Amino acid sequence: MADLDGNASAKQFHPDVPGVAFRHAIRGAANLDWGMQNRLSRILDPRTGRTVMLAFDHGYFQGPTSGLERIDLNIAPLADAADALMGTRGALRSSLPPATRAGLVLRASGGPSILKDLSDEYTAMAMDDAVRINADAVAVQVFVGGEYESRSIRNLTTLVDQGYAAGIPVLGVTAVGKELTRDSRYLGLATRIIAELGAQLVKTYYCEEGFEDVVAGCPVPVIMAGGKKLPELDALTMASNAVRAGAAGVDMGRNIFQSADPAAMMQAVRAVVHQDAAPEEAYDLFRSASEAPVLA
Ligand code: 5RP
Repeated sequence: MADLDGNASAKQFHPDVPGVAFRHAIRGAANLDWGMQNRLSRILDPRTGRTVMLAFDHGYFQGPTSGLERIDLNIAPLADAADALMGTRGALRSSLPPATRAGLVLRASGGPSILKDLSDEYTAMAMDDAVRINADAVAVQVFVGGEYESRSIRNLTTLVDQGYAAGIPVLGVTAVGKELTRDSRYLGLATRIIAELGAQLVKTYYCEEGFEDVVAGCPVPVIMAGGKKLPELDALTMASNAVRAGAAGVDMGRNIFQSADPAAMMQAVRAVVHQDAAPEEAYDLFRSASEAPVLA
């Protein structure tokens, strides 16, 4: 363990300087095996290096979620508009057609429900089932600062080791406990730990101050998690700010499946992520594509 005395806090992230070592379409992937890079490219669109990932794994700890009452009805119609899907193997096998073309990111950690301490997770899917179901990555929650922090890190590194053997990337997801603050200092700590311990992708929440430093300080792609439902324009603004700060796209659930018109919102998010559309422009796209009544 390094000596912690005099451990100066990191400051020089040079967010304006693109990663120079191993300049590669996918940040940090230059030394990965072909299969790993192939699977990553089914998640991150090679043309933009970004992803619009549709998240619907919420049921693994909170049961039926508003907007996810029926994944066969709520999510299946949206699947082809997503670059990647983030869900559980149970949802996939029971409710989505095998002809789905999107990249597959499968939730591989689990344990407690919302009734208990969410950080008390274990791995929840064997890597050979990820291979069987043709996953392009597996996702694991990492509770930096949580009660069971070390076990969640162990869950991550176990899946990273199994992932290397199978050629399947791991997406580490920062889980911010209620007692923690979603600021750049915490998110920078959590994302860097996840990347240093071997994840090939990291997902985290956006923060207004210093998100570009969070992204610059993480040596693998950072994907922004959507978080709680916001007004569509606010969600599009957050997504735009995140990709402009260097995020490799978004992983959104509630801001899409709880939208007045999820299909229209998918189109608007795609415009922000893949065409650098301004939030207002994307919101106009949402309104014109939406069947929902335009609120006064
Ligand atoms: C919940 C998750 C979700 O994949 C992630 O939070 C994105 O969903 P949302 O945009 O609704 O936050 O990790 O288990």
